[in-house]
Amino acid sequence: MGIETGSATEADSSLTPTSIVVDTGAPGRAISRDLWGIFFEDINYSADGGLYGELVQNRSFDYSARDRPDWHALTGWSVRAEPADAGEVTLRTENPVAPQSSRYAVLRTSAPAGSVALVNEGFDGISVTEGGSYRFSVYARSFSGAPAALRVELTDEDGELIADLGFPSVTGPWESYEGVLTADRSCAAARLVLSVDAPAEVGVDFVSLFPTDTFAGERNGLRRDLAEAIAELKPRFVRFPGGCVAHGLGLENMYRWKDTIGELPSRRQNFNIWGYHQSMGIGYFEYFRFCERIGAKPLPVLAAGVCCQNTEGGPRAIPDDEMDDYVQEVLDLVEFANGPADSLWGARRAELGHPEPFGLEYLAIGNEDKINAVFRNRFERIYQAVRGKHPELTLIGTAGPSPFGDDYEQGWSFARDLAVDLVDEHSYKSPKWFFENLDRFDAYDRGGPGVYLGEYGSKGNTMLNALAEAAYMMGMERNGDIVRLASYAPLLAKLDRTQWVPDLIYFDNERVLPSLNYYVQQMHATAVGDRSLPVTVTGAPQFTRPPQREASVSVRAADADVTFTGLRLNGSEPLSAAVDAETTLVRFPVSTDDEDYTITLQARQTRGDEGFAVAFGDVDGPDHFEWSFGTWKNRFLSLYYRADGDLDEAVEPIPFSVETDRLYDLEIRVQGRGRRITCLLDGVVVHDVTSPDRIEERFSATAVRDSDTGTVHVKIVNATDQTVRTSLALTGVTGATDASRTTLAAPPGAGAAFEPAPAVPVGSRCDLSEPVSVEPYSFTILSLPA
Ligand code: AHR
Repeated sequence: MGIETGSATEADSSLTPTSIVVDTGAPGRAISRDLWGIFFEDINYSADGGLYGELVQNRSFDYSARDRPDWHALTGWSVRAEPADAGEVTLRTENPVAPQSSRYAVLRTSAPAGSVALVNEGFDGISVTEGGSYRFSVYARSFSGAPAALRVELTDEDGELIADLGFPSVTGPWESYEGVLTADRSCAAARLVLSVDAPAEVGVDFVSLFPTDTFAGERNGLRRDLAEAIAELKPRFVRFPGGCVAHGLGLENMYRWKDTIGELPSRRQNFNIWGYHQSMGIGYFEYFRFCERIGAKPLPVLAAGVCCQNTEGGPRAIPDDEMDDYVQEVLDLVEFANGPADSLWGARRAELGHPEPFGLEYLAIGNEDKINAVFRNRFERIYQAVRGKHPELTLIGTAGPSPFGDDYEQGWSFARDLAVDLVDEHSYKSPKWFFENLDRFDAYDRGGPGVYLGEYGSKGNTMLNALAEAAYMMGMERNGDIVRLASYAPLLAKLDRTQWVPDLIYFDNERVLPSLNYYVQQMHATAVGDRSLPVTVTGAPQFTRPPQREASVSVRAADADVTFTGLRLNGSEPLSAAVDAETTLVRFPVSTDDEDYTITLQARQTRGDEGFAVAFGDVDGPDHFEWSFGTWKNRFLSLYYRADGDLDEAVEPIPFSVETDRLYDLEIRVQGRGRRITCLLDGVVVHDVTSPDRIEERFSATAVRDSDTGTVHVKIVNATDQTVRTSLALTGVTGATDASRTTLAAPPGAGAAFEPAPAVPVGSRCDLSEPVSVEPYSFTILSLPA
């Protein structure tokens, strides 16, 4: 995952004279030393089945329909009996290993020469390598009064043995047994088999298998290759445990840090908001320790006393009379992280093996919450208590899911009123939006809270996406005095187990696939500064988006039956169409070249719960509009702009659910080919958007100085199709013209989720006394002493 050495290729196209002047004499603006960090959430199997090294799925038989409707205590397991009626596996709850995880399995057989086995399939198979050793452990007990033998095997999918281990004398009560299995060959999808021979009645729980070669060799450790890929991002902080996981779907699902520390059986497991299970094998202690190992500061996000705004029926708050305890829980976390080893929670930390404090500096309260009265109340109670007791901490508030809209405005104004240190704002937007907003933070008020851009990403993994992020990061760095922290989201995604794309790092059980976006993060994080220097760019190539061609209309529904009637474009003859599970998209045979036009139609959904959409504008091209009914699982009405194929919200979505069998009257008024869009639902205006007149800055340059090393890093994004030949002058710097150069370059559409990145950063040398050739669609960093 490092930077490769070689020569950057120079594309041979028309050359544009450009100059970049860096004012190295200027004091510049301060940049936070912690600017670039990472966002870790257990989404896309990032923790269980991902970074967490555990190879056994559902090791404690705690899966249930709360996780997923078709899941149960034996999901991930199968039972084998020889002969078929030799015995059984039952689930029991009396006298468990720990009350927090009360269910366990019992293998029982009495048939002469019979045996019963429990087989675990792991997370999509257990990947083992020849010669690799795997630490097996289990809580087991015999119920029959007599000692029993427990056999443990790793087999391939055909049942052929790969490794085995025996515990000849399992007695009662519960005891932990462990041993090491060494694989005699590699297998991508091995199984773990636990079996007993008759007569036996043996209970098992917390059946666990870890590679001994975890990250930093730790027990209950992390998958080495993934942890290393994360460490190579050189993050200055790690945000955890979310995202939405932090506040949970309902109060019972709220992430409570005390439930996640200590012996594994005593942790309170929970369903995962993203549709699977949280074993809590990675809990607060493991998060803190991982941060420490990779030299990153911990940035925990705690629920602001309210659960996720996406909870059915709306967010709920911790009852008033339980809030004092919750506030204490937050204060206890600070003590757990920073308190001396003889304080109550510092002692707990020491007991877990870490007497030294973890050095917590940042604490975030809330995530994308609805900024309503109850949120304000709960947030303020937590905030004032922590602020009062720990003025040394940097406290972070929240401002909704979008970089605009009601929660954004209200979140910021609330944070200003309370003088919160930083505000966590989020931007999942298209490359077009990022290129149009490189100056977003220039105008931010320097007298109020700073920014933590806690979640952002440009909706794809192509080179154009990566460049949009690279340029936006340069805009943040240029405003490093106000943008103090930033983290791309989400970080990890497992093949076939993903709820959110794009991500930074893709993986399966055997491979780690960093994206182009990953390399952009890495390049920035390995060329940091503490001052951003003024840069003047002249003669930069200008980008003009091709104008939208003639306008038309199409309708679609992914999984619903919808009839559309009375479709008219500028008063054309009325047309009808129906979409269903087979015909998911219908393009109407209407069009207009007019700058201003009106579309009217009616829609009625008769089946399905995902809603439908009406696309308009240049619907056959990658740039057009979509008015979507029932987005985010039928919870919102959204107006999207699709730019370069990527969907982007044009306005904050409005809460809305499509009602089956109801006739909706739709009217869309377009002015200036989309400069202004007015949408009316049943005669009422629901969206009225005028696009800001903005330029997509596809070529940009910034510079930072690292006072520790005496280095200036000049960063250049060229997201145009032209090779740009630019002079590069550092005012006041004489002599030093030899720069090291790192370039990431690829065609704009190259790069995709779950595929190896089509390019990696390439290192070379560069003589700055000559013009520098900047390739089309490239991100370049030139570093030299200055
Ligand atoms: O990053 C994925 C999700 O996006 C986060 O959980 C949430 O905060 C945001 O909506």
